[in-house]
Amino acid sequence: MRAMGEFDGKVALITGSTRGIGRAIALRLAEAGADIAVHGRSNAGPSRALAEAVCEEVRGLGRRCEIYAADIADKEAVGALMAAVEADLGRLDTLVLNAARAPFKETTRLLERDLRQLVEVNLFGHVFCVQKALPLLEKDGGDIVFISSLGSRFMNPQYPLGPMKAAMEAMVRQWAEELGPRGIRANGVCAGLVKTDSYKTLRRLWPELGTLPEAAFVTPEEVADVVAFLASGAARAIAGQNLVVDRGLSNRILRAPER
Ligand SMILES: NC(=O)c1ccc[n+]([C@@H]2O[C@H](COP(=O)([O-])OP(=O)(O)OC[C@H]3O[C@@H](n4cnc5c(N)ncnc54)[C@H](OP(=O)(O)O)[C@@H]3O)[C@@H](O)[C@H]2O)c1
Repeated sequence: MRAMGEFDGKVALITGSTRGIGRAIALRLAEAGADIAVHGRSNAGPSRALAEAVCEEVRGLGRRCEIYAADIADKEAVGALMAAVEADLGRLDTLVLNAARAPFKETTRLLERDLRQLVEVNLFGHVFCVQKALPLLEKDGGDIVFISSLGSRFMNPQYPLGPMKAAMEAMVRQWAEELGPRGIRANGVCAGLVKTDSYKTLRRLWPELGTLPEAAFVTPEEVADVVAFLASGAARAIAGQNLVVDRGLSNRILRAPER
């Protein structure tokens, strides 16, 4: 049975929602009533299978769901993505900028192609998404939520994504002012440590992460709850903010939780 929700009749596109945090956001917004555009970079292999599994769960909640593949670094592909979302689902109300892909290397060791990928996916890609989604988002007033990380404000070794997140948090502030008059709110969620596929890579690089207690980690669902709040009417007075969702980890940076 289909439950009524805050997002009834709305459509949400979550970039990078085949797995991890993006998947949890897709399911959370579907629970709250939204029809969902599940998106990943690739339309083949494991990504496709994962996307289909997410869609099945969304449909099980009584919502419409379609799957899209587009490299967000490719402006034309992003244009085609937004056109397809409009053709299939009719509108777009909530755009969650969650996709990320980055090398784990010190900046001085980045090859030119690493650096290009870093900037083209994690900066250009989000801007392309907003540019191409704008005509849809401004029809009825929309929301943009960017998924940031603590790397935006604290240095992590071999994590050049951090400076991109910092730039994007500033972009969120920029968009709040630029797009506010067009009826679009922009905010960010700066997530702490979350056990996803990318965390497995981080753990290989920083074995000390394995010694942290469970209380140091945020779940994908906890991040998704805050995204749903920021995109809801309850957050109508919040614009241009990047909310830290890390169970207080950064607040007590010199004192890890004991259990
Ligand atoms: N995990 C953490 O500890 C943590 C903490 C704070 C913030 N975050 C942020 O939360 C977000 C999600 O993280 P996650 O760990 O859930 O990620 P993840 O498991 O690595 O999944 C990444 C998603 O992004 C998609 N993607 C990657 N490159 C893309 C591209 N060029 N174009 C389009 N889609 C692309 C992937 O699609 P495919 O399946 O097709 O590859 C996948 O759906 C990221 O922005 C990350 O920086 C993560």
